[in-house]
Amino acid sequence: MKRIFSGVQPTGNLHLGNYLGAIRNWVHLQDDFECIFCVVDLHAITVWQEPGELTAHTREVTAGLLASGIDPEKHIVFNQSQVSCHAELAWIFNCVARLGWLNRMTQFKEKAGKHKENASVGLYAYPNLMAADILLYKATHVPVGEDQKQHLELARDIAAKFNNDFSKDVFPLPEPLIFGEATRVMSLKDGTKKMSKSDPSELSRINMTDDADTIVKKIRKARTDAEPLPETAKELEGRAEALNLVGIYAALEGITADDVLAKVAGEGFAVFKQQLADLAVSKLGPIQDEMRRLMADPGYVDGVLKDGALRAYDLAQPNLEEVHEVIGFLRS
Ligand code: AMP
Ligand code: TRP
Repeated sequence: MKRIFSGVQPTGNLHLGNYLGAIRNWVHLQDDFECIFCVVDLHAITVWQEPGELTAHTREVTAGLLASGIDPEKHIVFNQSQVSCHAELAWIFNCVARLGWLNRMTQFKEKAGKHKENASVGLYAYPNLMAADILLYKATHVPVGEDQKQHLELARDIAAKFNNDFSKDVFPLPEPLIFGEATRVMSLKDGTKKMSKSDPSELSRINMTDDADTIVKKIRKARTDAEPLPETAKELEGRAEALNLVGIYAALEGITADDVLAKVAGEGFAVFKQQLADLAVSKLGPIQDEMRRLMADPGYVDGVLKDGALRAYDLAQPNLEEVHEVIGFLRS
């Protein structure tokens, strides 16, 4: 059986990087896989979240998934803290993963910054919880953006070590699915930094809740260079901001970067930005309308998450039992 698990943190507004790098791919995978999509609120609290905002963002991210086309009846959509098995398996994995493995995680180094001593223990152990999310359901495939590749390798290492330590094939080794023209959408203000919910500059990202005027304004203000657009993507090497905008256009339209350049080669950015803004507004508009409709009905959204959590628990519980038995925990 092919089973997908993936997650998104309710740490702020969903942005175009989340949509193009992850969520849109999830929508397409629904036909071929049994899917479990999780709003990972336990991961979110590895850095401080205002309680009211955490609740609101959990609903907003869920609305974004549904509005993008995730089917919560055919598949499972829930928030992580409603299924306690995630935290339980994460503890067990804290005892499987090695300090040396976690010390290599680049995301921890980026997020903890210079004040490592002040970071939460949860931020450090974050990849173990992510491994627990995936392996709790024995998921075989994990669709994510490029930035999660290292965490997935760790999940595979944890699965392999667990199986090896207990001489039993309990967990499959999950395969990453990283595809599309936008596996790493960059900041609109700095082509060397990824678009992220935590960037203090609102102009750096397009939020899924931005209205048409805001999208147009942000694209108009995006950093670019003075050269016209070339004929092939290869010639964009060293022009990070230009490459990013062309990649966004390609991903939104569902074509390659070379196809985009075949249409706009020789143009300057004033013209290209206008075309990109029109495309973004037309592709995102219908999703945003549906998101707004869903966010006005929190009772419905909460119901989807509750139903998803009950179904997720039914899948997770027997697997956690098996793990307990293999470890030798006494059950009476
Ligand atoms: P997060 O917002 O960190 O929870 O990420 C949720 C999903 O979006 C993950 O699969 C990430 O890899 C993906 N993602 C986040 N930021 C970007 C980005 N700038 N470009 C592409 N994918 C991204
Ligand atoms: N760490 C992921 C991110 O920030 C979110 C996540 C948590 C996840 N658990 C997961 C992704 C399990 C895939 C599978 O993007």
